[in-house]
Amino acid sequence: MLFGHSLAVNVILWIIVVSCGGIFYWVVVHRTFKHFVHYPVPALLEFLIDNPLRRSFQPPKEIIDWAGIREGMWVLEIGPGPGTFTIEAAKRAGSTGKLFAVDIQPSVISKLDRRLRREGITTATTKVAPAHSLPFPDNSFDLVFMVAVLGEIPNKNRALSEVRRVLKNNGLLSVGELFPDPDYPRKKSVIKWCSQVGLELVSSHGGFMHYVLTFKKV
Ligand SMILES: C[S@@+](CC[C@H](N)C(=O)[O-])C[C@H]1O[C@@H](n2cnc3c(N)ncnc32)[C@H](O)[C@@H]1O
Repeated sequence: MLFGHSLAVNVILWIIVVSCGGIFYWVVVHRTFKHFVHYPVPALLEFLIDNPLRRSFQPPKEIIDWAGIREGMWVLEIGPGPGTFTIEAAKRAGSTGKLFAVDIQPSVISKLDRRLRREGITTATTKVAPAHSLPFPDNSFDLVFMVAVLGEIPNKNRALSEVRRVLKNNGLLSVGELFPDPDYPRKKSVIKWCSQVGLELVSSHGGFMHYVLTFKKV
């Protein structure tokens, strides 16, 4: 027993010790490791990405509101993972809009296709592709969005230039981030990366723990 306290106090102390260790590992060790070694979150770990706790912090309806997706838009999602925001985005673009989703991992896209079928979404098209080489012509989209993805991409300048290429003039890029993500970038880093490729900040929602920044192609 820790420090000779009662069982209840010991249980609480152990919970605190284990939680602090977990937070230290996640925030310090994992973030440092991922700084040097870049890899996408495997499809097998999707339960860590899309779960009720995450949805309570980052509700898909709110994120899609903040991103500014509206009926009739042509929308591209980069790095949809298990589809946490894809279903809501496709619904919001509606039957007159269109949603495309690209992910670098074929296994992620296979799972997402099954989910889209289960949900009865017929206006979405998925493709396996990396963010730095998008399989679309110039000026294709009204809005591109990505949540918890930009920090994972090693060559951000190349990927953001590619996003700019596929956006229509005055098209929008929305970048969402959540703090516990080991690749979480601060708002000022995202603003700097985007401004370097000609994407100008037009709105900012949320705070340190999670946010959505929206940029316009200028
Ligand atoms: C942490 S998950 C986020 C999934 C989803 N956006 C969410 O927030 O629930 C990151 C996703 O981005 C994808 N990804 C990572 N690097 C990528 C790249 N360079 N191009 C396209 N997709 C990428 C990964 O395969 C993974 O599905």
